[in-house]
Amino acid sequence: MKIFRPLLWLALSLMSATTTAQTLTAEHLAGIPLEECAAARSVKLTGQLAATAPWSNRGGTDWRQLRDVCWQVRHIDLSEAQADVVPDNALHSRHHLQSILLPQGVREIGSQAFFACDSLEEIVIPATVERIGQSAFSQCRRLKRVVFEGAPVVGDFAFAGCPALTDVKVQGSGRPQFSVLAFYGTRSIYEEDLMDLDTLSTQPCLVPQPAVLRCGEGDGFEWADIKQVRAPKSLANERAHLLTLLEEATNFDPKANPKAHLSITLAIDASLPDAEAYVLDATAEGLTITGGSPAGVFWGIMTLRQLLLDSNGTRYDRYSLAPIHIEDQPRLHIREVMVDPARTFIPMSELRKLVPVLAQYKFNALHLHLSDDQAWRMEVKKYPLLTQKASTRLGMDDMLMPNPGYYTQKEMKEFVRYAAQYHMIVIPELEMPGHEVAAIHAYPHLTCGGVQVPMRTICGVSNELLCPGKPSTLQFVKDVLKEYKDIFTAPYVHLGGDEAGMPPLGNWTNCSDCQQLKRQLGIAPVDQRADNWRLQKYLFDETITYLRDELGKTPMYWYEPDFKEIQSGCVTFAWRGGQTNMAIESAQQNGVKVMLCPGDHCYFDYPMTRGDMPEVNWGMPVLSLKAAYGLDPAWGHDESFERETIFGVAGTLWGESINSPERITYQLFPRGFALAEAGWSPQSVRQYEDFLRRIHPHMMDLQRRGVSVSLQHLR
Ligand code: ACM
Ligand code: ZN
Repeated sequence: MKIFRPLLWLALSLMSATTTAQTLTAEHLAGIPLEECAAARSVKLTGQLAATAPWSNRGGTDWRQLRDVCWQVRHIDLSEAQADVVPDNALHSRHHLQSILLPQGVREIGSQAFFACDSLEEIVIPATVERIGQSAFSQCRRLKRVVFEGAPVVGDFAFAGCPALTDVKVQGSGRPQFSVLAFYGTRSIYEEDLMDLDTLSTQPCLVPQPAVLRCGEGDGFEWADIKQVRAPKSLANERAHLLTLLEEATNFDPKANPKAHLSITLAIDASLPDAEAYVLDATAEGLTITGGSPAGVFWGIMTLRQLLLDSNGTRYDRYSLAPIHIEDQPRLHIREVMVDPARTFIPMSELRKLVPVLAQYKFNALHLHLSDDQAWRMEVKKYPLLTQKASTRLGMDDMLMPNPGYYTQKEMKEFVRYAAQYHMIVIPELEMPGHEVAAIHAYPHLTCGGVQVPMRTICGVSNELLCPGKPSTLQFVKDVLKEYKDIFTAPYVHLGGDEAGMPPLGNWTNCSDCQQLKRQLGIAPVDQRADNWRLQKYLFDETITYLRDELGKTPMYWYEPDFKEIQSGCVTFAWRGGQTNMAIESAQQNGVKVMLCPGDHCYFDYPMTRGDMPEVNWGMPVLSLKAAYGLDPAWGHDESFERETIFGVAGTLWGESINSPERITYQLFPRGFALAEAGWSPQSVRQYEDFLRRIHPHMMDLQRRGVSVSLQHLR
């Protein structure tokens, strides 16, 4: 292409005027306009930095603003600022950060302070630093050089997963005290022997706790003596998972030991009490895992993986397995985690990473909230503008960073197949009639009056809804569901349904199409709110009938108290904190099942402790680990209630305040362990103190593998 040179020059210089490095120098970030913070490439602060700030206010501490508000910052100079600590998670997963000079007088660098800052190449730890927290620089994949000017105590995994780190200089007179795990997976800079770690627990640490667990006496077997893995063809997938595990975690190698003579047997026994049930037996004669179906065998293999972890979770016990007998089956059939790529896109590579992590704890459903007011993230062939015009979130509250991305149908189909190998179903959500501003932005005719609306850039609830009064709205919903049917093979589809009535479906009142529909349906005026909910019922009834009867899927939706009647064959999600009883009563009256995800136990996007991420949010309450553990899947009722009414449990990870994929697992663990156990283990084996003992190796195991977890419950 031929371009007139002066024009090219002009275009380039205009572009560079908006992209040249912006330098921001200030005592504090409070009061600096958001746009200036968002544009800054270099920030120099000179004041006394506070590690804590009043909660839930705009901006938060300087640290929180450096991380979330100054989203383009490459260089941070705090050499003329003062601070006692660099707080935990200070610059968690800031992939742009290339350099930082730490503040004067700093004594401590908190856990995960620079987790996955993978553009950072060098760090100088000032002489004043006495302690570097767990996983502080974990996954800084380009970090080449660390200079210790003093002699701090350096915590577990502090420099784990830093493959480029080859230059570690100690300049002071003392020698830092490195945890033996400080450089885990980085290289053997210090040749400590992992065997030196304390043995913390002599009992197996399994999460979720199995129904029956008996540790045997005497010897089990040695992996070197295993000659073969026997499994029928129908268990080829499970056999492959097992072989991968054995390769990673044991010295199983049939070719190396001609005297190997024992077997591992995988088998199906359809007489087990549940398709997902399994029995695991390790004796001196070898190992058998028998499942009610391939899923049961798979969960048995996931248990075996946990048995192979040492009591610190930092390595596998490679050589032998002690005798053990486990009989296990799930308490509930669906154990779900919901993620929200609509608000913060989760690239496919990151979504895939979640699957094996969740499967280890026997979650069997991943629910994708694919569209919302802020963005639409799933390709729909009949409506290409959804992804062409509405798949970039433009910003969220005080975080002005654009967040583009969507899933193609081809890659999502492949993902669904991949998840199935882990016995995990993928449940899509088509949110309606509220939380649909992105779709309305792309196709204005979907809303009342056909008004053109901008994409939403703040959290909360919009009054802009799909218009039930226009036949084209129902057609849109059906068309999308029809395309989703072939992509998502799960028997369930979630239809949203939440918060369209708060404020009370106001824009339907003034819409001539909606009023016309009311007359057509014979909705006699009661009051505006009740009338409008009957319009939602119309839209839902039509959609449910289509989804259930024509597409053969089970409809799911978020329970709302105004939504009194619901058709049979649905599953309702009890989510509003304090309103679970109401949701259960309504479900019973309508003869539908309940998925338990009450905000008071299951909303993991809420901070786990005061001051934990997300520090600044729309007013979320704290949801402690103990509160998460306190979820009773029978909700105080008896076994027959649980069997007849409870469908499963779900944990939600709404994405408004989670602004990097790494922060999803941070919000999920350790509370997700509690949810996994609530959904799987019988009440008789659940005990909080014992749970705290058992999760330790799993917290360590996840960190060892570079998965971010919150450590705030230990503070
Ligand atoms: C919800 O949290 N709005 C279902
Ligand atoms: Zn309307």
